[in-house]
Amino acid sequence: MNIMNVVYNRSCHPKMQELTDASVDMIFTDPPYFQYRAQNVKKLRNHKDVVTEFAFDGFRSQEEYLTFLEDILKEMYRVAKSGASGYLFCADDFVSYLNQIIEFAGFKVRKVIHWHKTNPFPAISSRKMFANSMELLIHFSKGSAATWNYKPVNEMHNYRNTAITAADIESLIIKYHGENKIEQLLELMKDALRDGTLDNLIENPICIGKERTRHKTQKPLKVCIPFIEISSNPGDVILDPFMGAGSTAIAALQTRRNFVGYEIDAGYSELIQKRFDDFLTKNPGFNGEKPVIVW
Ligand SMILES: C[S@@+](CC[C@H](N)C(=O)[O-])C[C@H]1O[C@@H](n2cnc3c(N)ncnc32)[C@H](O)[C@@H]1O
Repeated sequence: MNIMNVVYNRSCHPKMQELTDASVDMIFTDPPYFQYRAQNVKKLRNHKDVVTEFAFDGFRSQEEYLTFLEDILKEMYRVAKSGASGYLFCADDFVSYLNQIIEFAGFKVRKVIHWHKTNPFPAISSRKMFANSMELLIHFSKGSAATWNYKPVNEMHNYRNTAITAADIESLIIKYHGENKIEQLLELMKDALRDGTLDNLIENPICIGKERTRHKTQKPLKVCIPFIEISSNPGDVILDPFMGAGSTAIAALQTRRNFVGYEIDAGYSELIQKRFDDFLTKNPGFNGEKPVIVW
């Protein structure tokens, strides 16, 4: 099965079963969030401004939704190489369930990352609710993460955390004491002082301007690319079972990685095709595998 720069216009479940074991280097995905349940919450029924509903979110119950994701995660585990990192966007109300099913599938949960959306949909004050300016991204790995390409923290957000406390130094010395790893410790501290410590926060507006397609949950490339660069290398294959408007694919192309993915909806697959065409027009020297949709 071709896994080099291809999106299959099929359901990832069961199509992913055609992938061979240990064939992908990284996973970056954004599954449906099961926001559809809002229809059953009486007071929210007519508040599409608060909770958006999508056709692709039509699970009948929370159990059905979580079982579906658990099946996909087990497949992801099978096809991931040892040491592969995975990132999965999720809504805050499901994060603890998802942490559990990611571990049931065999992965190790590493950290929940917060994407601070700097242009959130405004709060409606009469509803006495805070605006939702955070989206979550769970980082997990198959065993220990094999790839970690450090980047300056100011590429992720403007808050530059360079403060090293006495407690930090003490815990590092305890950790590295007697292991002949003093050079590693000094490198770590130099990085932290120069570039800040990479933490679990990224700040970026939601998709705006020319990048925006009609896909309502499109993720900005500036939110996808840093994690892809940190956890994979050029030439690697990145899996996304829920391509949407193809942001993972475009992020992979822009950073010289490859991708394989699925998108069940033909209309969204056409959007991806259009983004491939735009990418090839803007990058005439691109000499990687030509990106395609398999219809
Ligand atoms: C949250 S969106 C992904 C958005 C994407 N990250 C982007 O930036 O454009 C989830 C996508 O998964 C697709 N989807 C839902 N169920 C699917 C399935 N079983 N197989 C493949 N795609 C599916 C939906 O059509 C939707 O486009």
